[in-house]
Amino acid sequence: MNTRPLPAPAPRPDAAAAGGPAGSPPADSPRPEVNGAFPSGMVEVRGVSKFFGDVVAVSDVSFSVRAGVTALLGPNGAGKSTLFRMMCGLTAPSRGNVRVLGADARADREVRGRIGLAPQQDALFDRFDALGFVQLAAALAGVADAPAAARHALGLVELDPDDHRPVAGFSKGMRQRAKLAAALVHDPDVLILDEPLNGLDPVQRRRMIALLEELGAQGRCVLVSSHVLEEVARLGSRILVIAQGRLVAGGDYRELRELMDDRPHRISIEADKPRHLAAMLVRLGIAVGVRVDGDVVVADTLDVDRLGRDIAPVAKAMSVRLRQIVPLDDDLESVFRYLVERR
Ligand SMILES: Nc1ncnc2c1ncn2[C@@H]1O[C@H](COP(=O)(O)OP(=O)(O)OP(=O)(O)O)[C@@H](O)[C@H]1O
Ligand SMILES: [Mg+2]
Repeated sequence: MNTRPLPAPAPRPDAAAAGGPAGSPPADSPRPEVNGAFPSGMVEVRGVSKFFGDVVAVSDVSFSVRAGVTALLGPNGAGKSTLFRMMCGLTAPSRGNVRVLGADARADREVRGRIGLAPQQDALFDRFDALGFVQLAAALAGVADAPAAARHALGLVELDPDDHRPVAGFSKGMRQRAKLAAALVHDPDVLILDEPLNGLDPVQRRRMIALLEELGAQGRCVLVSSHVLEEVARLGSRILVIAQGRLVAGGDYRELRELMDDRPHRISIEADKPRHLAAMLVRLGIAVGVRVDGDVVVADTLDVDRLGRDIAPVAKAMSVRLRQIVPLDDDLESVFRYLVERR
């Protein structure tokens, strides 16, 4: 993807009528007026909860997002898409409030026109080609010269506007790029991209990240969701970590990595005298917590290296036979669980 500036799109009738910036900054100038107008954040989420019957999808979440790229990181079912849908005004919070560019997107049509959403689902119109699909998005957003804007947006995501194959036949990566072009076509100030890196190969991902960073550097608020820490690490962005509907941490990648590396590690140790072994691990300070489950000791340790070094000599000295030692928490889910339980 190249990093050409977005075009100055045609003014939207509704935006112009409302006296907004009408989405027509000079092509390559940053957008200081937007930051200046919303010093507390372009997106403000205040005490927001969302319930679906008994399901608590989002629980008392507050944060503020300024211009630049911000990643919303969390495992499946964390509440990322629900938060995004509330920001776009597609669903109302059960409690609290969400303000985008100072207004409630559900009530303010002009603000809705300044948000671009690439939904998680591949909700493309399958029989259209890429140009037709993005042109439709442009027309729905009220862009005056929809064909020109669609061509430009497709150029930004490196899709060929003259490729007339229907999007039904697109690869996952091409579909992701078509969705981004549709979200960008009206030159929004706030871009909400639900898992935009999912399904991209490494080269495409690098280009997509470069484009997102460029869009952020131009003064847009770019919100990107992901459930892959390494993916958002490359964005060089601020990261908000959400798990089980709650905001559990925030910071840059380095800060989050440190937080995660400091966490206790959980190891499963199968042995023939598990209770003896568990007691000794605690007595020697090798484990900070233990649980015995049948023949298995589940040990929490702050020092995995020491446990690895000392477990065999300790077991030998106690005449305990070790059968298996397995780390239980090398996956990202466990990192999130730690962050949730830490609160
Ligand atoms: N319309 C709905 N009706 C009922 N439950 C819902 C609805 N939308 C979301 N949920 C539930 O709310 C919770 C959060 O879902 P959400 O889709 O926001 O998570 P997510 O972080 O986007 O997950 P994923 O990574 O899988 O996309 C889940 O438990 C989900 O089942
Ligand atoms: Mg989702």
